[in-house]
Amino acid sequence: MKKGGAALDVKWYRYDTIDSTSSEARRLLQSGALTPPAVVLAQAQTAGRGRQGKSFYSPGKTGIYMSIVVDFPQEASSAALLTIRAGVAVSDAIREETGIETGIKWVNDIFLDGRKVCGILTESVLQGGKRRAIIGIGINVTTESFPPELRSTAGALGLPGAERMESLPAAVLTQLLRRLSDGNGRDVLEEYKKRSIVLDRIVSYERDGIPYEGRAADINADGALIVELGDGKFDSLQSGEISLKTWK
Ligand code: BTN
Repeated sequence: MKKGGAALDVKWYRYDTIDSTSSEARRLLQSGALTPPAVVLAQAQTAGRGRQGKSFYSPGKTGIYMSIVVDFPQEASSAALLTIRAGVAVSDAIREETGIETGIKWVNDIFLDGRKVCGILTESVLQGGKRRAIIGIGINVTTESFPPELRSTAGALGLPGAERMESLPAAVLTQLLRRLSDGNGRDVLEEYKKRSIVLDRIVSYERDGIPYEGRAADINADGALIVELGDGKFDSLQSGEISLKTWK
């Protein structure tokens, strides 16, 4: 693997089935067995994890389930934009490998034709006094039958994604390392905004149990979503889940 022209050793841990590649990455890190950069990859997960305590449906051999472990970026702007960088990198890799253009729903769900085809879970771990990032990526490549609660929202890349199932994980890693070393993140933020399916749409969300609705106006340099609530009022969301009123 090459990064910025220099050879970079990346260790790959491959499993047929595991509970969660991100949980395994954490265990390997904490036992001292894993040194970043590294990738944990499985053909199936029995306890795939999503954001906000949700599970991630991970049936055998129809998707890519991988966790990339890197040193947590030191630079403040890079740390703030880690999630944004990961979203753009996965979308880049899908385009490079399959020609499929995906959109990104803030913060970093990857969408195709109004359906979620990929989720990304970014976690940080303190190990031996060093902060590491575990970037867990789940891509539905050929998954066809989803559990009832996902049927109206989840989708898959389909063909030609399936043809590139073998090479997609390496492409994701390459693009992620490229985006992580990409200066102050201004370019990546611009790319992210171009691929956003959220900007200029009406979004709804809850905060402290109170429902809000407004126009997704911008994404700032910290990756926060700026929502125009009306009457000259704006809100800034650092994290959380938003719903879209209409699809782009
Ligand atoms: C989300 O949609 O909320 C994020 C889903 C992240 C799923 C990936 S699959 C590989 C890695 N291992 C996990 O348990 N989760 C992430």
